[in-house]
Amino acid sequence: MCSIIGYKGKNFAAPILVDSLKKMEYRGYDSVGVATFDNGGIMVRKGTGKVLEVNKNLAISEMAGKIGIGHTRWATHGGVTDKNAHPHSACKNNIAVVHNGIIENYKELKEELTVAGHTFASETDSEVIAHLLEVHHGKGVRDAMIQTCKRLKGNYAFVAVFQDGTIAGARYEEPLIIGVANDGYFISSDVLGFLQYTDKAVFLENGDICIVDNSKLEVFNFEGTPVAHPITQVAWELGDIEKGKYAHHTLKEINEQKITVVHAGRQDEEIISKFCDLLANAKSVYITGSGTSYHSALIFKYMLAKFAKIRAETVMSSESQYALASIEGDSVLVAISQSGETADVLDSVKLAKNQGAKILLIVNVTTSSLARISDAFLSTNCGPEIGVAATKSFTGQLALIYNITDRLCKGCLATARAEFAVAIENVIASQASVMRVAEQMKDCTDIYLLGRSIHYPIALEGALKLKELAYVHAEGIAAGELKHGPLALMEKNTFVIMLNPHDPTFGDTISNAHEIKARGATVIGISDRKDDVYDHWIEIPQLKEESFYPIVEVIPLQMLAYQLALAKNADPDYPRNLAKSVTVR
Ligand code: M6R
Repeated sequence: MCSIIGYKGKNFAAPILVDSLKKMEYRGYDSVGVATFDNGGIMVRKGTGKVLEVNKNLAISEMAGKIGIGHTRWATHGGVTDKNAHPHSACKNNIAVVHNGIIENYKELKEELTVAGHTFASETDSEVIAHLLEVHHGKGVRDAMIQTCKRLKGNYAFVAVFQDGTIAGARYEEPLIIGVANDGYFISSDVLGFLQYTDKAVFLENGDICIVDNSKLEVFNFEGTPVAHPITQVAWELGDIEKGKYAHHTLKEINEQKITVVHAGRQDEEIISKFCDLLANAKSVYITGSGTSYHSALIFKYMLAKFAKIRAETVMSSESQYALASIEGDSVLVAISQSGETADVLDSVKLAKNQGAKILLIVNVTTSSLARISDAFLSTNCGPEIGVAATKSFTGQLALIYNITDRLCKGCLATARAEFAVAIENVIASQASVMRVAEQMKDCTDIYLLGRSIHYPIALEGALKLKELAYVHAEGIAAGELKHGPLALMEKNTFVIMLNPHDPTFGDTISNAHEIKARGATVIGISDRKDDVYDHWIEIPQLKEESFYPIVEVIPLQMLAYQLALAKNADPDYPRNLAKSVTVR
C-alpha cells in the first residue's frame, strides 16, 4: 500500500528518491518523506500531499547526501498528518525508517519501549521499528536488523538508514526488491522504483534481510544465515509508465486496450499447455481474486462451464478463509491478480497450497510474490498499469481467459477471437455517446447497472469503476433480481444502465427496462441493438461470439466513470482513500 525506496551509490540520493517515489506513487499517495545521510547526520523532510507538491514545499530533492530512504504513505494506523508521514526516526535521530505493511504487535512494543524511556513522535505502528533498531544497535546494524525482525509480528517490508551511512531492509509478507546498478544499490517495494536506473534486480524472499554497506550487498535470513539469490533481468520498458499524450494514466490505459488484449492472448505454448492440463485434470476447481480480478473470476467460471464443461467455484479472496477452509488435496486454485501482491489473494493461495492444492495464476506483474509461489502462471502482458482503477488489466485478464478456454475446448472460440481488436477499436473511437450520457449523469447520486448471465459480472465491474473513480453510489444487479427488491428504488432521479447486447438475454432484459422506465427512471442501454425503451443508447459492435461481449461492454463503462470523475474534479488516477495494490488485510 505504501511505496518504499532506499538508495546508496555515487549520485545524490534525494533527486533519485523523489523520482522513484513519483513512479511508485500509485501504491499510496497521502504523504511523502525522505531521509538522507550526509556528513555523519540523518536529515528528514516529510509532509502530507502528493510527491511533487511536497517536494515543491520542502525542497526534498535539494537535500544533501548520496545515501537515503523515501516513502509514500497510504494511512493505516494514524491519520494523514505530517508527523505520521514516514520516515520515522529513533529518539537519538541516529536511525530513520520507512515501512510498508502492518505491525500487529505495535501496541505492546510501544508500551514496552515507552517504559524503557523512548519517546514516540507519531501515532503509527511503523515508528516502533526505528526504536527497536535503536535498542538493538549496540552490536551493529546486522544484529539490530535480526533482533528487530524477531520482535515484529505482522507483515512488513522496511528500509532503514543508520548513522554510519549503512542502509538495510527486511521483508516479511510484503515485497522488497534490490536494484543493482553500476554505481549503487536500490532497495524498493516495486521494480518501478529503480527501473529507470537499472533492470538488474534481486528479489528478496520472505524472511530476508539485506544490508548495503560500503557499496557491497549482503543478504541473510532472520537467523543470520547468508542466502544467495540470483540477479534477474527485469523486462518492462520504462516508457510504458509515462502518460504520453494523455491527460491521465487511466485514459491512456483505457485507450491501450486495443493492443493489450491482443498481447494478453499471445502465450507461450508450453506454459499455457501445462496450465490447461493442470486445470483440466483437477478434481475440483476454485477461482479467486479481489475487486476487478474477482469479476474476471466470475466470467472465467461461466466460460469454463459453457465451453470446457469444467465446473468451478468462485471465491472472493477476502472470504477464502471461510470458503476454502477445507478443500481436497487434488484441487486447483486459479488466482487472478493484476499486481500479484494483493494480501487477500496471497492468503487464499497459501490456504489452498497448505491443503495440497495446485496454484494456477493469471497475473500482470510476473515478478510478484504470487508469481513466485504459484505452480504455473500466465501473464496478461499488459505492461505496467498505473491508474488505480483496473482497466486494461481487466480486459487483458478476459482475453487470456478466452484463450485458455479456447485451448480447453480445442479451438471452439478461435475464429471469433480474431474480432476483438477491431471491436475494441470501434468502441474506443465512438466516445460521443458516452460523453453525452456523462453530461446527463454528472449530478446524479444513484446508478444501477443491470445484466444477466455473463453480463452480470460487467454490471458489478461497471459499478465498481463508478464508485472508485466518480465517487457515486452505483450498484450492479443481476437483472432477474429486479422484481425481488431493487425495483422499489426506481424513481425519477435514478439512472439505470442495462447491459443488453443482442444475445439470448436480450428479451428478458428489455422487459426489465420497460418496468424500470414505467417507474420514471432514466434508462441507458449498452447494446448492439437500438430500442425505443432506452432514453440513451451507447452502441457497441455486434460480435459473432456472445461470450465476448463483456470485453466491449466494459469499455464504455470505464470511459463513463472517467468522464464523471473529471466532472467532479476528482483525480481519476488517484482516487481518494484507495491504493493500487492492497497489500494489507
Ligand atoms: O492487483 P489485484 O488485481 O489483485 O487487485 C485487486 C483489487 O484490489 C483491484 O482490482 C481493485 O478492485 C481495483 N482498484 C478496481 O479498479
